[in-house]
Amino acid sequence: MMDVDQAERLRKLVNDKQSVIQNQQFVENNNSNRNIEHKARIIAISSGKGGVGKTNITVNLAIALSMQGQRVLIIDADLGMANVDVVLGTSSKYNLLKLLEDEINMEDVIVNGPCGVKYLSGGSGIEQLANLGYNDLDKVMRKLNMCEDIADIILLDTGAGIGNNVLNFLRAADEVILVTTPEPTAMTDAYAIMKAYSNYPNCDTVKLIVNRVYEASEVFSVFSKLSKTAAKFLNLTVIGFGEIYEDRNLVRAVKAQVPLILMYPNTVSVKGIKTIAKNIMSGEVEAQTKGLKGFVSKFMSFLR
Ligand SMILES: Nc1ncnc2c1ncn2[C@@H]1O[C@H](COP(=O)(O)OP(=O)(O)OP(=O)(O)O)[C@@H](O)[C@H]1O
Ligand SMILES: [Mg+2]
Repeated sequence: MMDVDQAERLRKLVNDKQSVIQNQQFVENNNSNRNIEHKARIIAISSGKGGVGKTNITVNLAIALSMQGQRVLIIDADLGMANVDVVLGTSSKYNLLKLLEDEINMEDVIVNGPCGVKYLSGGSGIEQLANLGYNDLDKVMRKLNMCEDIADIILLDTGAGIGNNVLNFLRAADEVILVTTPEPTAMTDAYAIMKAYSNYPNCDTVKLIVNRVYEASEVFSVFSKLSKTAAKFLNLTVIGFGEIYEDRNLVRAVKAQVPLILMYPNTVSVKGIKTIAKNIMSGEVEAQTKGLKGFVSKFMSFLR
């Protein structure tokens, strides 16, 4: 087992190496992609019940996707308890509202995490966007839109529950991944968020990850119950997107603040995460991918 000192060294090594490379990449990507119409794929990761594993899945999935050659940005969109940086082993000085200051640009608020993954702290700043005047909002949005050029995939780690904020993120995203565990409470809450989501126009499909699984039969049971009920009563398609096994190494990694996939690359839960990353890559990019600009304008229209 890795001790705390080893974990600390691993974390430092990963972060130091990445920050130099990443700052360089930010500039290069911004310059080279200007003329190409590129739209990032916006994937919201959410759940009905809290504490089911969204943040850990987001972070480790981001690294797995990055290892498969994707440029990935995580936006912490949990307005209450933003803790992506804790799991990622980085820390951000500013959230996106810092962009209001003239001399601050995207590269000042984006944190370079391990394996090329970038991280933007949205946090409570996202909610405050709604209170900005037109000029200030325009300023933040113009800078934010630059992220389109530096990411192929943007993962949004949302809060739990069926509050308006979470639903607005889901409605504005290109794709929605819901996380549940096999516990009846988590499943009931997953169904509640499916129901709330399916009430909106064009919100007809979600992808489902079953986390903290002990045996394969649980996955089938959870998926078939939720997908059948959602199809029958909500007219919502639920796509089984993969499972992640219960794994004590995940708790060890969280305590060490080193992403699981780096600390225990061969552990059972990482296999599940890598399969989910492959599912994301092999899934057809939705024809209606709106990209970051589309996402931002849609999200803002819900706030008004
Ligand atoms: N596959 C797993 N095996 C073992 N423990 C797990 C697993 N997934 C999650 N956990 C436990 O659940 C905790 C909460 O995970 P995480 O913070 O990712 O959930 P969350 O859904 O983001 O929570 P919140 O709703 O508060 O944002 C982890 O710190 C860990 O202790
Ligand atoms: Mg979380």
